Amino acid sequence: MEKYASFKHMAPKALFGNGVRATGNARHRYLSREAARECMVLLKNTGGALPLKGGKVALFGKNSYELIAGGGGSGTVTTEYKASLYDGFSDKEKEGKISLFKPLSRFYLDKADAFRQTAGEKVKYIYAKEPTPPKKLISDAAKACAAAVITIGRYSREGGDREASPGDYYLGEDEIKLINAVCESFSDITVVLNIGSAICCEELEKNKNIKAILCAWQPGMEGGYAAADILCGDADPCGKLVDTFAKDYKYYPSAADYKKSPLYMDYTEDIYVGYRYFETIPKAADKVRYEFGFGLSYTTFDIKGVLAGEEDGYITVAATVTNTGKYDGKEVVQLYLSAPQGKLGKPARELCAFKKTKLLRPGESQALALRFKLSDFASFDDLGKIKKSAYVLEKGEYSLYLGASVRKCEKLGFSVKLSKDIICEKLTSRCRPFELKRRMLSDGKYEKLPTGKVTFGFDKHKPLGGRAPKDTLYFEDVTEDHINDFIAQMTDEELIHMVSGTPNRTYTDDSCFPGLARLHVPDVPTADGPAGLRIEPRFGNVFTTSFPVATAQACSWDPELVERIGAAGAIEARENNVGIFLTPALNIHRDPLCGRNFEYYSEDPVIAGTMAAAQVRGIQSQKTAASAKHFAVNSKEDDRFHCDSRVSERALREIYLKGFEICVKTAQPWTVMSSYNVLNGVHTSESRDLLQGILRGEWGFSGMVTSDWNGPDRNQVNEVRAGNDVRMSRGFPEKLAEAMASGELKRADFEHCVKRTLLTYLKLYND
Ligand code: BGC
Repeated sequence: MEKYASFKHMAPKALFGNGVRATGNARHRYLSREAARECMVLLKNTGGALPLKGGKVALFGKNSYELIAGGGGSGTVTTEYKASLYDGFSDKEKEGKISLFKPLSRFYLDKADAFRQTAGEKVKYIYAKEPTPPKKLISDAAKACAAAVITIGRYSREGGDREASPGDYYLGEDEIKLINAVCESFSDITVVLNIGSAICCEELEKNKNIKAILCAWQPGMEGGYAAADILCGDADPCGKLVDTFAKDYKYYPSAADYKKSPLYMDYTEDIYVGYRYFETIPKAADKVRYEFGFGLSYTTFDIKGVLAGEEDGYITVAATVTNTGKYDGKEVVQLYLSAPQGKLGKPARELCAFKKTKLLRPGESQALALRFKLSDFASFDDLGKIKKSAYVLEKGEYSLYLGASVRKCEKLGFSVKLSKDIICEKLTSRCRPFELKRRMLSDGKYEKLPTGKVTFGFDKHKPLGGRAPKDTLYFEDVTEDHINDFIAQMTDEELIHMVSGTPNRTYTDDSCFPGLARLHVPDVPTADGPAGLRIEPRFGNVFTTSFPVATAQACSWDPELVERIGAAGAIEARENNVGIFLTPALNIHRDPLCGRNFEYYSEDPVIAGTMAAAQVRGIQSQKTAASAKHFAVNSKEDDRFHCDSRVSERALREIYLKGFEICVKTAQPWTVMSSYNVLNGVHTSESRDLLQGILRGEWGFSGMVTSDWNGPDRNQVNEVRAGNDVRMSRGFPEKLAEAMASGELKRADFEHCVKRTLLTYLKLYND
């Protein structure tokens, strides 16, 4: 068969064999349901209200009938259906586990139909106001039912941020009205949160009639079935939060700054992001509603650290987990490091390792080993208090805490004591801030940072030195060994062509990485994204599988599960002739209002990096390229094309780049996508420091870098020099040609970019 034929001809495939398509296949949908069950977090369960005890249930809230499976924008997935909680409960009804109070369900279903008839199919019902059923209907429901369930939904999308206002971060007036009306008649209410990022839970938490809260997230197309499994006790909730839920938006350390300017954000909270802030800074602990790592279960567990030791810089802790309750369940064991404050200051606790148990029956135990490298948690000394631009482990005692959340954990008897400071790695100052004036320290006070005028430069590239063979060498005959000779055959115009995307050949909505027909280099199709393969409905109803959004996936604390999701998504991508799968997205949740948090994993870089690495492994097991994005510090959607993330080198290294570093070093994604935002005065796609210095130079990244799609006002000349190999979805060839003619860009600058792109193509599937 012709090499790379499917990229060219879009041959229909059925990778499950015998004509069975993997795309949207029942096996993948089942995986989606399993994942949704693993990621839902039980936040409140007074008096064991859940699981439901059978009997009739009154189901309230429009999102009980219309599930928000995921967020919008490039993270959207077009599926055949989205199973709502109503669908899930209807199944349980057939199994005789519960029954629904039908007149109430009829009320909601009629409302949804009426909305669609007036607003049209395209307008999302989720934007409609929450209706309150008539008083009489609610009281009739209360007479017939023992329990009520209300779903509260939130939707956000790429390109805009959420608001700290009613109906978004806070409950809306319509939602409060509904809750109050239900509370008049019911005293056993469960609230299901169908959300993509944190909301304010205070009113729900304090309301005595609301006995239980299940955070079901945006759980993918099977979400309603999974939520019903948990609510009815067919599955134990075993997800744990990967973000701190504060009592109010204003308590997040980024809140004052987040919406202040369209031009910049000052990351003055520095490394004190999420629980690193709430658990460290004086008086911040009281501002937390649900702490990092928190999540209830129907059963109870006992976690014991049995042994701990250090060898060759690695610390290993052996733990035993016993199910001490009455239900089958899984627990997540979390290990936190507490480093000495020293001269640099440190968070009170940092997640350093975690493991989830298998399903444990009552009385059953499991032994687990948790392991991490101490130097991975060294501090980056950007001001030279000990050693400038080096990772240092300061002298003093390093203690460990083991348990089931950042708070519910116990200090182990074992600790590591360092009698002197250790320089773990000496690096170079890169991507330094010029306009960030101060940053927070571990006592909540601020220190000044040096400012200055933004400067940046580029490396000089040596020619690859290939020799064009006498007979034309075609791409299908090329191996890594003669890639330089292959590139030597290209004209200057062809090299220029090879650093910009080309229009789409497939139906996936995202353009192709560049090809060259003369030398048989295929255009390589790309597609999103983090919750499953995105094929827009206008391309003829190709239904794919949607999985829980990335934040939800991370709440499973199960990298193997995430790896399976990555592999499943990649088979679907491959079946639809996609070579580059534009995921994982692993920006840090700096602020709950980021409109794209649902696509990202966590406020914690170890979680983000571990989950992203797992996804990359899964994707690339299918010979499809993963694309770790958005590199880096893309924490905001409003003004995302030009907003400058001003962040210290320390916070950059320890928080915002850390997840990428873990992902690159442990899973080697074949592509990385630079971000839209500016980082300390320089666009990330034009940053030599970021792409050549840190990504390639320090971390050894050997893949190719693509820009994000169509960022306006980019200087592609700088991008080529900085090692941003391809500008997507199209570039500025005239500008590049001018720069080549003037000598500003050399042939050698292009050759390196093109080589990295072609080497990536060589790794892709060929069927
Ligand atoms: C998003 C990327 C996405 C790309 C292609 C951009 O708008 O920021 O995450 O991969 O579009 O769809």
